[in-house]
Amino acid sequence: MSIKPHGGTLVSRIAEASERERLLAEAGKLPVIPVSTWTISDLDLIGVGAFSPLTGFMTQEDYESVVENMRLASGLVWSIPITLAVEPELAAKLGKGSRAALKGEDGVIYGIIDIESIYTVDQKREAVKVFKTDDPAHPGVAKLFERPNVYVGGPVTVLNRPQPEKFREFYFDPAETRRIFAEKGWKTVVGFQTRNPVHRAHEYIQKCAMEIVDGLFLNPLVGETKSDDVPAEVRMKSYLALLEHYYPKDRVFLGVFPAAMRYAGPREAVFHAIVRKNYGCTHFIVGRDHAGVGDYYGTYEAQDLLKTFKPEDLGITPLYFEHSFFCKKCGSMASPKTCPHGKEDHVALSGTKVREMLRSGICPPPEFSRPEVARILIEGMAVQPAQS
Ligand code: ADX
Repeated sequence: MSIKPHGGTLVSRIAEASERERLLAEAGKLPVIPVSTWTISDLDLIGVGAFSPLTGFMTQEDYESVVENMRLASGLVWSIPITLAVEPELAAKLGKGSRAALKGEDGVIYGIIDIESIYTVDQKREAVKVFKTDDPAHPGVAKLFERPNVYVGGPVTVLNRPQPEKFREFYFDPAETRRIFAEKGWKTVVGFQTRNPVHRAHEYIQKCAMEIVDGLFLNPLVGETKSDDVPAEVRMKSYLALLEHYYPKDRVFLGVFPAAMRYAGPREAVFHAIVRKNYGCTHFIVGRDHAGVGDYYGTYEAQDLLKTFKPEDLGITPLYFEHSFFCKKCGSMASPKTCPHGKEDHVALSGTKVREMLRSGICPPPEFSRPEVARILIEGMAVQPAQS
């Protein structure tokens, strides 16, 4: 039997066939709420049950409870607000108990919302609670402050799904990944979140985990990321090269996570773990500074937060890894838990340094990055505009 989704039931809010036709016709006559690509991604992830037990954008009651206590009003653990921000002038025209159509910039109606709650929030407070800072230089905080501070909550129904331009074959809904893991006979599956190319440290912690579970779900986030992160398309090519050369085919499954990156560090680690449970993972890797950015979070703060929850409240088992590196004296990948040698023996490169090397067409050492991966990143950098 596979692991239960968060809250016990895999949510499905995708309208099919005649119901979809009927709702699309109705949506044409409803007030329109314009939605961004980010919100469309949240909508779709709610629709397919990746965000189970959420059935819609958060009402004030859930929002307050999540911001304050990292739990939904029902008491279930949930760490990141999933909200629909609406311009105040538009919100003033909407009413509780009414319906609105959610329309993308491309003119497509992606869904409808049954409005249960319209509320104004203090975004500075949300920032401090969720991101632990209200510094607008933090990319997640900057995104939050860009949005209006009036939120509309209530259940949604998806009428159109966002269409990926590339790597379509790597998009799987939670119901599909659950079926696939079962077909493979995997009873234990470890999920791996990443917004980066997979370097040797990532590979090492994945393979440590693979020693104790049946399969690895390599689940790179491909939604919105900050501009200096490596674009998803380049990363996808690098993952495929890595899997081809260094992983047993029958023990890894690659599927994307089409969510936006919040950079909320500890709180996002909790969110990432719960969502991967919905995709059918039993275990989830949390290494150093998970979902962190800059110096906003401590190296192991995400792990410390996860450890405050009772195992049954999370329902997925986090696997914690310390900062990993290649040690020249050990002649292998290692971490402070397994290596007695000093920093001078460790191959350590900052993200900035690696980007600099790649941009100049230089492969980082093989102890840091597999050459097959480095070559793809160099090619990718050559076609991308330089970022600061
Ligand atoms: S994240 O923002 O998606 O978390 P990243 O892709 O860098 O960033 O990390 C993916 C996962 O690998 C996270 O769990 C992170 O903690 C872990 N990780 C990254 N680098 C290391 C490292 N050198 N040692 C241990 N864990 C790491």
